[in-house]
Amino acid sequence: MTKLSIRTVEPDDLVACHTIECRCFSPSEAAWTSSLEKRINCYPEGFLVAEYDGIIVGQVNSGALHKDDITDEEFKQLIGHDPEGKNIVIFSLSVLPEFQKQGIAGKLLTNFIEHAREMGKDKIMLLCKDKLITYYSRYGFEDDGVSNSTHGGAEWHAMTLAL
Ligand SMILES: CC(C)(COP(=O)(O)OP(=O)(O)OC[C@H]1O[C@@H](n2cnc3c(N)ncnc32)[C@H](O)[C@@H]1OP(=O)(O)O)[C@@H](O)C(=O)NCCC(=O)NCCS
Repeated sequence: MTKLSIRTVEPDDLVACHTIECRCFSPSEAAWTSSLEKRINCYPEGFLVAEYDGIIVGQVNSGALHKDDITDEEFKQLIGHDPEGKNIVIFSLSVLPEFQKQGIAGKLLTNFIEHAREMGKDKIMLLCKDKLITYYSRYGFEDDGVSNSTHGGAEWHAMTLAL
């Protein structure tokens, strides 16, 4: 994977990021193009992409806020987002299926954690399905239990990494 680089998103990455989103999540869970566009335009410093040989193969995007309740659906469109917020919230970590199981999400996550630390954030928070609790635990996230979110009709665990 010598040709892999992790970098901050650019406006031209929108279509590639939306394609990844649609291939990795169900239609009810995938972020809308408008939400991704807003995340790219309003908070590029919280949005990293993995590029392999000129192709965007993975992404991690986020918003920031001061409060600890991250289940508000509108927040996904960055309503309530404040770049100065002490908490940074991962909305989506996703890698194209044909590039999975090669450590790309791991690289995105470790870069994101380091970057969040440099930005002076207190915590990284996220919501995930129970099958990914073990995965995020490896990076230091702790399970806060089932959240109030019913996004896409599923059950979501809240996880937190104190920085
Ligand atoms: C979850 C997701 C982002 C992981 O992406 P990934 O790039 O495959 O992640 P990694 O390669 O870092 O790790 C995945 C697994 O591959 C293993 N792995 C990492 N490098 C490897 C390598 N070189 N060879 C073999 N296996 C490897 C990891 O140990 C991990 O094992 P696990 O299945 O026991 O957890 C990806 O599966 C995805 O996009 N899923 C759909 C969207 C989603 O659910 N996102 C999370 C919620 S926001």
